[in-house]
Amino acid sequence: MTAVGVIRGTTTDRRAVIPLLRRLRSAEGRADPLPVWAEILPVWAEMRALGDVVPAPWGGYFVTGFDACSQVLRGRNWLAPDFAWQERHPDTARWQDPSTREMTRTLSRLNAPEHTVQRRALGNLFDRGTLDALRPLIASHVTRLLDRLDARLRADGEADFVSTVSDRLPIRTVGQWLGIPAAHHPRILDFTHRQVHAQELLPTKSELAVSAQATREMRAYFTALLAHRRAHPGDDVLTDWTRYWDARYPTDRAAADRTLYDLTMFITIASLETTATLLSNAVWFLTQDPARADRLRRHPEDLDDAIEETLRHDPPIHLNSRVAATDTVLAGVPVARDTTVHVLYGAANHDPRRNDDPHVFDISRRGGHLTFGGGAHYCLGSGLARLEARLLLTELLERFPTLRPAARPTYANRMVFRRVTSLRVTT
Ligand code: HEM
Repeated sequence: MTAVGVIRGTTTDRRAVIPLLRRLRSAEGRADPLPVWAEILPVWAEMRALGDVVPAPWGGYFVTGFDACSQVLRGRNWLAPDFAWQERHPDTARWQDPSTREMTRTLSRLNAPEHTVQRRALGNLFDRGTLDALRPLIASHVTRLLDRLDARLRADGEADFVSTVSDRLPIRTVGQWLGIPAAHHPRILDFTHRQVHAQELLPTKSELAVSAQATREMRAYFTALLAHRRAHPGDDVLTDWTRYWDARYPTDRAAADRTLYDLTMFITIASLETTATLLSNAVWFLTQDPARADRLRRHPEDLDDAIEETLRHDPPIHLNSRVAATDTVLAGVPVARDTTVHVLYGAANHDPRRNDDPHVFDISRRGGHLTFGGGAHYCLGSGLARLEARLLLTELLERFPTLRPAARPTYANRMVFRRVTSLRVTT
């Protein structure tokens, strides 16, 4: 039994959080997504004021404090909500949903020993050598995308940074690495944006239906891609993975194919919206105040700090769930075995006990964040996402010295996966 941090104003009222959740999913927010982020910061702060561990209306808890979130992500007595847990859990309609089941088979929902087997097989996907090899390729994608941005700005005086650059760089990068033809990229982006509903906190029936359709398209796409690669092996990552899993399951081709599908599909979709959000956020935070962009032009050595502050300030994933493996105590609150806890990355990153004046965007902060998670499930693509951001911002700051937002960004109204839907920029 362990406890973390100072217990502050912990509420035991499961309804206390309902008005805050309503504000996050408000009709105003849906109709006009502009105020969503302005709403989220105070909501996370108010939720944290209720305690480090706040009861959720449907059972389980939200975890708001940095130390408590970190303990859950890193602790051995917290597990991903896998199939075994779902079977013991009454919400069968949700867990039987095909799009939810598809995600439950992926790395993020596996526990040891399967999770360990897959992570060991993948190793450090983006080690220094791999990133060095990818760097010139990503840099050339950056140049081409910024050429397009330049052309749009010259023609129209304004451009949408999301559709012109941020949505495109991650799919070109991961596509190049996995050998996915450019002609397929729009299709992958399209089903990824629709599939994500199933991973939201409280998806509606109609959202699950949209996800189910996207899941069918996703399955058809990656199954065909893998079959094609089997038939035409090359010197690439997918061919290596195919050899590895075929050797591991020498008499069970179906098991090898299943694992290959789960890994390829998940690694691809996990890399897209997340990185796009980081890129859009970075441009929004750094160009809305010309002093910030100027400082980085004069001190390019501060660029990595600016990227970390962007990741801290507005994490592309806001919530992740774990379940208690045993009866335990978290920040003084007893939590029974099998209880779900929702780790709130944004609330944790804005915990004033970890980061002073947390709502201030400060490039010099060198603060802490949990944006890539922690422990056994720590993000496999953090190095790649950071490299994409670094290469994009370096060239962007140099080529567009007067770039600035023409309007505030707009956001998809979601609670788990943040997505910037547009960011109009001008010079
Ligand atoms: C800014 C961009 C990104 C953010 C904010 C992000 C965030 C995260 C987070 C929060 C997790 C869950 C960690 C946990 O459960 O403790 C995760 C897991 C994961 N991410 Fe990322 N990610 C990003 C980019 C990428 C990229 C580019 C890739 C691949 C190319 C990737 C692949 C994965 C995979 C495979 C997992 C599952 C790891 C596991 O469960 O063992 N991510 N990511």
